[in-house]
Amino acid sequence: MKRILIVYNTISGSTGEMAAIIKEELDGKYSVDMMPVAKNLAVENYDAVIIGSPLRWGGFSRPIRKFIRNNRTVLGGKKVFCYLSVLYIVKMEHQPLPDTDFYVDPSLEIETITDKEASLFDKKHTLWYYHSVISKTIRGMKIKSTGFFHGRLIVDRLGLVEKIIMKIITSFTSKEREGEFLNPAAVREWARGI
Ligand SMILES: Cc1cc2nc3c(=O)[nH]c(=O)nc-3n(C[C@H](O)[C@H](O)[C@H](O)COP(=O)(O)O)c2cc1C
Repeated sequence: MKRILIVYNTISGSTGEMAAIIKEELDGKYSVDMMPVAKNLAVENYDAVIIGSPLRWGGFSRPIRKFIRNNRTVLGGKKVFCYLSVLYIVKMEHQPLPDTDFYVDPSLEIETITDKEASLFDKKHTLWYYHSVISKTIRGMKIKSTGFFHGRLIVDRLGLVEKIIMKIITSFTSKEREGEFLNPAAVREWARGI
């Protein structure tokens, strides 16, 4: 049976819960191990790797970036899937779509807006922007599919600096707001395609 490693980072828990849902969906079809990101994970023992991260400023969280950097060569020879726990995502009418396979959780209710309608906040939250930031980190790897899933924001679970940043962001926009938005059905749907 082929072996799959799900490696994830999570702060308020949603990315970890998504990992458990993916594992549940794939168990039986594959032999699946699920581990929080750490040094010295035996990535070479697996046929495929699924990398899960909260979205941070449009890209992977720092521990996941470090994991990818430290394992770039071995990941380059494997099938790799990524998923991100997200609060807000938008499309801009003149931006292309990612040129790789992707899935967006329907509960994110992604809208297409015009260049005129887009605020600076929107421009840093487009599907294309996320794709560009993520692509830089995963250069040299063959990503089979990227899932964007609705996550959660519980400001009190963040570290001090992030708490202050998110208090400011949530006070000026309702596009990123506190709450629980995890949609297990979307995670399952994406996982069934693996
Ligand atoms: C510093 C910081 C930056 C963030 N940047 C984004 C972002 O660019 N886009 C987005 O949709 N969510 C962003 N978020 C929200 C998180 O991605 C979201 O809360 C995620 O679901 C948390 O995952 P977790 O429950 O696994 O920790 C950010 C949160 C923090 C604290």
